Amino acid sequence: MSGRIPQDFIDDLVQRADIVEVVGSRVPLTKAGREYKARCPFHSEKTPSFWVSPQKGFYHCFGCGAHGTALGFLMEYERLEFPVAVEELARSVGVEVPRTDSAERVSVEPLYAMLDKAAQLYRQALRDHAAPVEYLKQRGLDGETAREFGIGYAPPAWDTLLAALGSSEEDRQQLLAAGLVIPRDTGGFYDRFRDRIMFPIRDSRGRTMAFGGRILASGEPKYLNSPETALFHKGRELYGLYEARRAERKLERLLVVEGYMDVVMLAAHGIRNAVGTLGTATTSEHLRRIFGVVSEVIFCFDGDRAGREAAWRALQVSLPALHDGRQIRFLLLPEGEDPDSLVRREGAAAFGQRLAESMPLSRFLLDSLCTDLDLGNLDGKARLAALAKPLLAQLPEGVYRELLTTELARRVGLPRDRLDALLGNPSAPAATTGSLSRPSPPPSPQTRRTARAARAGSTRGSLGRQAIALLLHYPAVAHEVPLPPNLEASGQRGVELLRELHTLASSRPDISPPVLLERFRDRPELPHLAQLLAEESLVGEDGAAEEFRGCLGRLLSAATQQELATLLQKAGQEGLSPEERQRLATLQRTVVAGTAGRNGTTT
Ligand code: UTP
Ligand code: MN
Repeated sequence: MSGRIPQDFIDDLVQRADIVEVVGSRVPLTKAGREYKARCPFHSEKTPSFWVSPQKGFYHCFGCGAHGTALGFLMEYERLEFPVAVEELARSVGVEVPRTDSAERVSVEPLYAMLDKAAQLYRQALRDHAAPVEYLKQRGLDGETAREFGIGYAPPAWDTLLAALGSSEEDRQQLLAAGLVIPRDTGGFYDRFRDRIMFPIRDSRGRTMAFGGRILASGEPKYLNSPETALFHKGRELYGLYEARRAERKLERLLVVEGYMDVVMLAAHGIRNAVGTLGTATTSEHLRRIFGVVSEVIFCFDGDRAGREAAWRALQVSLPALHDGRQIRFLLLPEGEDPDSLVRREGAAAFGQRLAESMPLSRFLLDSLCTDLDLGNLDGKARLAALAKPLLAQLPEGVYRELLTTELARRVGLPRDRLDALLGNPSAPAATTGSLSRPSPPPSPQTRRTARAARAGSTRGSLGRQAIALLLHYPAVAHEVPLPPNLEASGQRGVELLRELHTLASSRPDISPPVLLERFRDRPELPHLAQLLAEESLVGEDGAAEEFRGCLGRLLSAATQQELATLLQKAGQEGLSPEERQRLATLQRTVVAGTAGRNGTTT
């Protein structure tokens, strides 16, 4: 959707919007130093823990963790869809959203046409080839379901589509814009999808907007997806939604699964309401889509650790969306099974039974929090209450929050009013920052320990974290200080994210914190970044570039140390090649001279 509104326009809009005006016209703000505060509009509280920072162009609640830019505030507060919020913000700033109809429709229509022709061609190819048909048969897929989902086959040749659909340069440019071909270094193009089973991904009107392709035999990657195009935004789409709505006149609930084959095979067994997240984490945009169509959703994930984490992530995204009348449940499958394998093995009735017995969100939430707590003692109970508090605070007021609080009271063995006092206990932002406003802990004990360590540990965090925080607060330093190419070798966490932020920040002359943040709207890193931005920067704008340079220097010397350690270990075990010996000598000199950082950052 936002893809139809140019990214540049959104960047400019977020840049120009006055967050104090946008928030202040809806919620009474009080000035507090350079910032503004209010009682949080997203959870109930007696003392204000909701802060708006004009410098950062950003709001943050230390009580419930709500956060975002002016655009995000409009979406959450007014419950607006993304494009509507853009319209609204544009109106308040006094600019026009570039209309998508005239210019865009001309360029977008041929893309749909091209994708449709490609889908036809792939379907025909499936009829003409024995191997893919045999493969699908052996996976238990019937012809009717395959037809319904428009499943096809991309033959092994490098130019199936090019030869059939790319006779003119204009056609080839459209194939490229549709994500169907890839440019060659030497000029010309080649087909993106070769020797793969093709799953068309359709929009709500049934038009093909992208494809997923599964390799026939073994090979990498197992699934190849269309890239982001003007029509396709991966974090927003749900595979099978169009088919589910078409199959069931009155759709009451959706089942969210991970894979293409899960959706298709459930349908083949008569379970017609499954949709797939295309291998990405569940986003709030997914949820908006889902609750736009049904009021009940069951998340169905593998029972392994990754699956549990994906489920926890879905839970976090779901909390703010849990208005009365909506229902969210979780089904964790036995280890090693996915919906496809399970429905084939035990049939639709047994799978339906599992769905019927799936866990309500409340139980999943509390069970997950309890996994390594000892509720037999007071400490465990207090900890459970503390862990649950920020999660409960994210729920809209209503039946769900009531039920969950009652259940929590039962588990910690406190009368409801005592617990209320405990949970509602008003605390100043400064006191809660360190303990309760962190992103909620994932369910696995291992990760939980890390989270606890982080809470107890230093406030400045790792080098990568420091560098990221600096870039977020002062994106302009990206123009002054380039990133050295070999930072990744430091083995420090966050370096990839740092590079991504740096590239974004360098891409515009006037980039500001909220513009950076908006680019991460649908990404799992968003809460983490918001948390960093919410923290007070220890450095002022003047010192930022210098501090950033210093940080990179330390990262680089960590990289050098890492390489040095590896080489020394190898020298002791199997010996070094002449090049490695030379490299070792250079590194040792660098370390002795203490110049690793400076050399790296100034080149
Ligand atoms: P899985 O690896 O769980 O595969 O990926 P699967 O769906 O069970 O596949 P089959 O049964 O072996 O055919 C789950 C989903 O993650 C995305 C795809 O959307 C896939 O359906 N994925 C997976 C990718 O995008 N790329 C990959 O290389 C692998
Ligand atoms: Mn599978």
